[in-house]
Amino acid sequence: MEIEFVVADAPLPEKAVLAIVVFEGEAAGLEGGAYARAVGAARFTGAKGQILDVLAPESSLAARLLLVGAGKADAFDEMAAETAAAAAYGAVKASGLTTLRVKLPAASAALSARAGLGVRLAAYRFDAYRTKEPAEKKPSLVKAQITAETPDVALDAFAPLAALADAVTFSRDLVSEPPNVLYPAEFARRVKELERLGLEVEVLGEPEMMKLGMGSLLGVGQGSVRESQLAVIRWNGAKDKDAQPIAFVGKGVCFDTGGISLKPADGMEHMKTDMGGAAAVAGLMHVLAGRKAKVNAVGILGIVENMPDGNAQRPGDVVTSMSGQTIEIINTDAEGRLVLADAIWYCQERFKPKFMVDLATLTGAIIIALGDDVAGLFSNNDELSENLLAASKTEAEPLWRMPMPAHYDKNIDSVIADMKNTGGRPGGSITAAMFIQRFVNGVPWAHLDIAGAAWKKPSTVPTIPDGATGFGVRLLNRMVAEHYEE
Ligand code: BES
Ligand code: MN
Ligand code: ZN
Repeated sequence: MEIEFVVADAPLPEKAVLAIVVFEGEAAGLEGGAYARAVGAARFTGAKGQILDVLAPESSLAARLLLVGAGKADAFDEMAAETAAAAAYGAVKASGLTTLRVKLPAASAALSARAGLGVRLAAYRFDAYRTKEPAEKKPSLVKAQITAETPDVALDAFAPLAALADAVTFSRDLVSEPPNVLYPAEFARRVKELERLGLEVEVLGEPEMMKLGMGSLLGVGQGSVRESQLAVIRWNGAKDKDAQPIAFVGKGVCFDTGGISLKPADGMEHMKTDMGGAAAVAGLMHVLAGRKAKVNAVGILGIVENMPDGNAQRPGDVVTSMSGQTIEIINTDAEGRLVLADAIWYCQERFKPKFMVDLATLTGAIIIALGDDVAGLFSNNDELSENLLAASKTEAEPLWRMPMPAHYDKNIDSVIADMKNTGGRPGGSITAAMFIQRFVNGVPWAHLDIAGAAWKKPSTVPTIPDGATGFGVRLLNRMVAEHYEE
């Protein structure tokens, strides 16, 4: 999808949809009352989320005319511009027309640029495996023209947002790929390709991880014929290349069958998305490089496949993590925390980061607690939490901070080892977070449980088509931009 910025009265190209974004209460008076009859007959007020298709008069240069409600004028912010443009795209994407003109009622560079982002995100589609889709069902729009008071200033403002859209697309693609295609080595290979953006990427295989003593991560992958991987992505954008980095760690379980504690068949295909945390971290590193963020950042991805097999890990096994702590495996389906335990330890030992944020599709229990849209935030640090929560609000990637009552920690004590990998059903997301915390060595740390948020079907947000959401990329990018850049 190509995005352009044009002045409001720029001539329309052929085969164009004109989407006029209207403030609430201003629809009837629009363009001298030209749409008053249509608006009245449809109870269109311009409220947020309303869309009205208007027959384009023969005299109109537009092939199709759309009114898009933007809500109250005084509440028209960047998010409202983004949403209106995305909704317009969604309404006409397969109309057969090729250009979408979005005419904004207020078109500062910031508002126009965000509208451009809205269209880019709404136009995401994972098409790789459709071979027989009829042409009339395929999206036809190839270009969006967003009106702007000063198009060249809007284009400049759009540059970092285009980098963000590219990164969200990268992240969504990883999650959308089927698990026979995106196995650990292939995931690592795609991450390695990010070196073209100026990132440094190292990939560790099983022999290297064995040497480091990562028995916890390796135990998860031992039932798979696919080799486990650890990807280390670095972006050194700060003036001082040796300045202490910030760090992000992702759970990358390319497929989670549950292992010997096998999951039920129903819905198991969804477990291809169990690498959504690692995909979000990869997406974050993508955007930091894409917009040349002035920060030193590290992304660590623990990438494995959790399979049942003659060689698979058993319930009852005891593994030794890189930290030296031993773990009794109670349930092989509680594998994400085992992967994170070693990835997090490695991260803090090697990089001594300012803070660590991990992202993981960790527990079904977080979906029971918070539903599909809201991710759980667990942290040992109030400042980091506040920064994450603020960024989450601005980017509409909702987070809710969960409690970590210290005495719950005993639920993961083991009779024969330092700890066990499950703490029972009550507060399952909390004891999972407390398990991870046992591998945090005093560093400010936050854990985002994105089990619900990584995938949406059906989606209710115009910027997030059904399927992979890319959750986390936007909010982390915002947090870095607002708090941790020079
Ligand atoms: N990958 C799952 C969590 C999950 C569930 C992600 C639904 C996305 C949607 C995780 O590895 C898992 O299986 N967790 C178990 C933990 C339990 C065995 C303690 C769970 O939530 O049931
Ligand atoms: Mn599992
Ligand atoms: Zn899992």
